[in-house]
Amino acid sequence: MINLYSGTGRLPPPSVPLGTYDHLKTKALAPPKVGEDEFDNHVSDAAQYGRAEFWDDRYSTEVEPFEWYYEYSYFSPIIRDLVPLDAKVFIAGCGTSLFPQDMVNDGYQNITAFDISRVAIATQKLRCQDRYPQITWLQGNIVDTDLPEGSFDVIIDKALLDALMCASMGEVSAKLYRIEADRLLKSDGLFIVITFGNPEIRLPLLEQNDLDVEYFTPWKTTVQAVMKPKQYPNEVLDPDDPDSLYFIYCLRKIPELVKAKLVKERKLIIKKNKKVARGTKRSSNL
Ligand SMILES: C[S@@+](CC[C@H](N)C(=O)[O-])C[C@H]1O[C@@H](n2cnc3c(N)ncnc32)[C@H](O)[C@@H]1O
Repeated sequence: MINLYSGTGRLPPPSVPLGTYDHLKTKALAPPKVGEDEFDNHVSDAAQYGRAEFWDDRYSTEVEPFEWYYEYSYFSPIIRDLVPLDAKVFIAGCGTSLFPQDMVNDGYQNITAFDISRVAIATQKLRCQDRYPQITWLQGNIVDTDLPEGSFDVIIDKALLDALMCASMGEVSAKLYRIEADRLLKSDGLFIVITFGNPEIRLPLLEQNDLDVEYFTPWKTTVQAVMKPKQYPNEVLDPDDPDSLYFIYCLRKIPELVKAKLVKERKLIIKKNKKVARGTKRSSNL
């Protein structure tokens, strides 16, 4: 594991591998263990990754569990390190991945698995039957859930943010998602994002560090990277090449920052109310 960054600023750390990452912005998600041809087949689908109908269609024809990037066991040392077994965990965009079930098999007791695709959620429920009472399956849109605020200790995203960013209006969805994640997390909650996106392209989506601007993110970010597993024995992977890495963003809410955000928001509301009151007074004097 490579530790890349620890801070609350937007700039990528000096230790981020050198090179330009622009090519990653347009790259489609790579499904696991496939050759380059198969990877290319997914490129044309990428623009659809924000649409529920696309995912419903896809999961209707692909009935077997499908794991983007790699399965839970590959990331579990990091997850186990960060997430206590009794945490209330929300898995955003679970798809038909076995990540929720694998977490339960690893000892986690309270998992909510969420996806926009009705088909994915129905498939998961059918597959689990009564075997995983620790998992609640929910269908919905991550940019606007009906769940109460402060519901979870941890949110885990594997490849959902990447999917949103492939779709049109990706940055808008990512911003709404970030705001919703903050709302859903407790005041010391943790948002974990597993992605192919390096800090230069992902940190600006995940952080808003200016308290004077709307939707300040009250978290401190650390970034780790792990080497992708080899897809074939002779494959050469380079730790300085972002194409060889998965990045794991850990966005930890800090209660003091949450408090500062609340104070700021209250001040803004008072300011707005005063302005409205002045306007009303002025018009009644006319
Ligand atoms: C790339 S797949 C990742 C699936 C799974 N996390 C994995 O690692 O295998 C992205 C998933 O996000 C879901 N998704 C896309 N947009 C969403 C949204 N707005 N709200 C909730 N889920 C969404 C899709 O249905 C799909 O299952």
